[in-house]
Amino acid sequence: MENNWLDLANDVVVITGALGGMGRKIANDFAEQKANLALVDLNEEATESYAKELASTYGIKAKGYSCNSTVEDQVDALVEKVVADFGRIDVLVNTAAILKFSLLEELPLDEWKQVVEVNLTGYFLMSQRIGRRMIEQQSGRMVHISTIASISPETYSGAYSPSKAGVNMMSKQIAAEWGQYGVRSNCVLPCFVKTPLSTKFYEDEEVEEGRRRMTANRRIGEVQDIANAVLFLASKRASYTNGEELRVEGGFGIMLGDLVPKPGGRRQYAIDSKKPKA
Ligand SMILES: NC(=O)c1ccc[n+]([C@@H]2O[C@H](COP(=O)([O-])OP(=O)(O)OC[C@H]3O[C@@H](n4cnc5c(N)ncnc54)[C@H](O)[C@@H]3O)[C@@H](O)[C@H]2O)c1
Repeated sequence: MENNWLDLANDVVVITGALGGMGRKIANDFAEQKANLALVDLNEEATESYAKELASTYGIKAKGYSCNSTVEDQVDALVEKVVADFGRIDVLVNTAAILKFSLLEELPLDEWKQVVEVNLTGYFLMSQRIGRRMIEQQSGRMVHISTIASISPETYSGAYSPSKAGVNMMSKQIAAEWGQYGVRSNCVLPCFVKTPLSTKFYEDEEVEEGRRRMTANRRIGEVQDIANAVLFLASKRASYTNGEELRVEGGFGIMLGDLVPKPGGRRQYAIDSKKPKA
C-alpha cells in the first residue's frame, strides 16, 4: 500500500476539541498525511502552540483557534477566519464533547442543557456553518465522533447518551440532505479508549480487566484505532460511504451472548460436552 493511499495531502481539515485525547491524535495523523490543519479548542495559546508543533514536525500549514463550539458568533467568526487563512474547508471533524455523571432522578436541568448544548448543538452549529461553505463548493466531508453509548445507554451519565444519539441522527440527516451537493457525513462510534475524558475509569485494575473482558479483542482501544477510522471516512477512499455509523470498539457490541454465564464457563462447557459420558 502506498503511503499516500488516503490522498489527504493539502486538504484543509478543521478539528474541534483538538486539544483532547482523541483530537490531538487525529490532528497528528492528518498532519502526517500532509493535510493542512485548523485546530479548534477553548484555549487559544494551547491550540496555537500545538498547531506550531505539527506545522514544524510535518511541514504543513496549521493554525490554532479558540472557539466555543456552542456560541453562534464565535463559530461564524471562526469559519470566516479559517476560510481567510486557508481559502476553503474540505473536512470537518467534530470531537468537542463533555461527559458528566448524575442519576436521572437528580439531574439538574442546567446540567442536562449544558451537555446537550456542547455535544449536540455544538456539533450542529459547526456542521451547519461549515456545511454552507461545502455546499457552495459542492464538496466536503464530515466525521463526527459519537460513541457506542449512543446505541446502548451510558447509565448514570445524564444527557450524554441522548445527546450522542442525536449526533447519529443529525449526521444521517446531513448525509440525506447534502449528499446531492457532494457533502458526506459519517459517525465514528468508539467504546473504551484511554484519554483524559476516561482516565478515571482505568485507575482501578479490576475495572480495566472487566472492560477488556467485554470486548471480542480483549483489549482497551487506543486513540490510534479511532484516528485510523476518522482518516478513512474523511478520505476519498470512503467516497461512497455516507450516513454511516462505524463502530470502533473491538467487537464490544457482539459480546452479549458470550457474557451469559454457563456452568464451569462457556468455553469449558463446550469442551466438556464432547467428553465421553462416564
Ligand atoms: N474517551 C473515550 O473513552 C470515549 C469513548 C467514546 C466516545 N468518546 C468521544 O470522543 C470525543 C473525544 O473525547 P476525548 O476523550 O478526546 O475527550 P477530551 O475531554 O479529552 O477532549 C474534549 C476536548 O473538547 C474541548 N471542548 C469541550 N467543550 C468545548 C466547546 N464548547 N467548544 C470547543 N471545545 C470544547 C475540550 O477543551 C477538550 O480539549 C468526544 O466526542 C467523546 O464523547 C470518547
